[in-house]
Amino acid sequence: MTAHLTLLAALVFLLLSFDKRSLFQYLKKKILIINLEPRRLDSAPMATVCCNWNETALLVIDMQNDFLLPEMGSPMLVPGAKAVVPAVAKVVSLARERGIFVIWVVREHDPSGKDVELFRRHHYSNGKGPTMKGAKGAELVDGLKIRDGDYKLVKTRFSAFFNTHLDAVLKGSGIKRLVIVGVQTPNCIRQTVFDAVALDYEHVTVIVDATAAATPEIHSSNIRDMKNVGIATPTLQEWTCSGA
Ligand SMILES: *[C@@H]1O[C@H](CO)[C@@H](O)[C@H](O)[C@H]1NC(C)=O
Repeated sequence: MTAHLTLLAALVFLLLSFDKRSLFQYLKKKILIINLEPRRLDSAPMATVCCNWNETALLVIDMQNDFLLPEMGSPMLVPGAKAVVPAVAKVVSLARERGIFVIWVVREHDPSGKDVELFRRHHYSNGKGPTMKGAKGAELVDGLKIRDGDYKLVKTRFSAFFNTHLDAVLKGSGIKRLVIVGVQTPNCIRQTVFDAVALDYEHVTVIVDATAAATPEIHSSNIRDMKNVGIATPTLQEWTCSGA
């Protein structure tokens, strides 16, 4: 009888002294993990990204009149590009809200064409040519504006990293993640993305409906290639709702 009572007392003592809080936390964690597992798998690329927007930069590429507006009569026109201007403007304004570093990447060429790719040099003569420095064709399309705190980067090749100081500006600003919009998908977007991968940026996002090419087929096949090297390719709507 006494032995039973002692055993009972010991059990009561054990129960009372047990850390119920940690038991509760443990159970909660287990239950949460079970509940979250399928969702985490669905959105795996997003879930790996944190929300330090201060370490993300937005690259807005080549949103210039000569690439976008048919009325400019430029040989560099990208059919389908004008349609994404509103989406690009939305990404820029959302980036500003989030405190993301906005970088405007543009082409500006010398009127002689001496700094343009060889295969395009014949477009430059009599001091005229596409996206010439200081000309209307090189200006950002209406609706997009550089603001204080933004950065403008001039390039003369497809990749925003090729022969520019972009990598130094980004690394010097603590940037680890890139979000890319603009034109056009197979050339400047793709080359910039592949260089960003080569330069070990932790996370590169291309917003699929804020980038464009000559045709939807060219656009989607290049997006597929970028996906295959680990690029996140959300729609504007998905990016708006995500932390990536
Ligand atoms: C961004 O913010 C985080 C958290 O506040 C901080 O640890 C990090 O150093 C910041 N990075 C930059 C580049 O300012």
